[in-house]
Amino acid sequence: MKNKKMLIVIALIVVVALVAVFIPKTSQSATKNKQVKIGILQFVTHPALDAITKGAEDELKKEGFSNAKINFYNGEADQSKLQTMAGQLNSENNDVLIGVATPAVQALANATSKTPIVMGAVTDPVGANLIKNVNTPEGNITGVSDRFPFVKEIKLMKEIMPNLKTVGVLYTSSEANSKSQVEGFTKVAKENGLTVKAYAIASSNDITNTLTVASKEVQAFYVGNDNTIASAFNNVLQITNAAKIPVFPSVDTMVEQGGLAAVSINQRELGIQTGKIAAEILKGKKVSSIPVDFYDHTTPVVNTKTAKALGITIPQSVLSVATTK
Ligand code: TRP
Repeated sequence: MKNKKMLIVIALIVVVALVAVFIPKTSQSATKNKQVKIGILQFVTHPALDAITKGAEDELKKEGFSNAKINFYNGEADQSKLQTMAGQLNSENNDVLIGVATPAVQALANATSKTPIVMGAVTDPVGANLIKNVNTPEGNITGVSDRFPFVKEIKLMKEIMPNLKTVGVLYTSSEANSKSQVEGFTKVAKENGLTVKAYAIASSNDITNTLTVASKEVQAFYVGNDNTIASAFNNVLQITNAAKIPVFPSVDTMVEQGGLAAVSINQRELGIQTGKIAAEILKGKKVSSIPVDFYDHTTPVVNTKTAKALGITIPQSVLSVATTK
């Protein structure tokens, strides 16, 4: 009886030891011998998304995937292109997929419910119907969210423009990320005594007409993380500069282009975080055990040249904490 028990215990120990020794080895050698494939779908070209993609690629290299094959596609804001590219990425059997911006992740999610998808900077993953449980993702999607710091941005706007009463918000109606920011911004702005006028555009073709009208109705504009607008931001600035209306964007790259000021997340850092999560998945971690990373390290950024051109004095309280472009 005793011997039998002993035998069972020994047998169990042997099994556990074998499992411990062989399983990691075989899976390690599997990843060593097989070339890792990483698919990236970027929604459109603009400096912020370019920085996110580059950050993700650099981080993956740093994490040991420098020999991985990267299949990169850019949908150039064209829905049908995005669908085709997402299908292509799915048929290439990539080990992990990265979607840069909301519409790209949505296209990938439509193409596959199996391959892990990493969100690169999705403003509102729940509102965009990509995920329900952000702490324990229920499907094949997790990643990084750049939820916007409305309270901080509005505080900055009021500090720079103490007489600010009416703000115009320009957004693209087809972008879930942008719509959710208009709602968030409007709510916080109202709580801070501001009147918000929202101006929707269907595509970048509407920018000139919409802004020409809107510039006569507001004292300043807020533009959130809107990809269509970010990709045509120089066009936006042409009109607002001529009308001498400041634009408060949402990111450093848009301040650099000539926006007045923003409370911004560093876009490259968002990409690095995205690459980290993709690397974790490639190393075997399950999507369900990777909570969505609501990245919230922000810095105020000010464009002093724009301030000068618009005749706006940036208070010392802002300059002493802000990064200037
Ligand atoms: N958050 C945006 C989205 O969900 C993508 C994005 C990241 C972005 N950084 C940006 C858009 C800067 C405009 C400007 O789609």
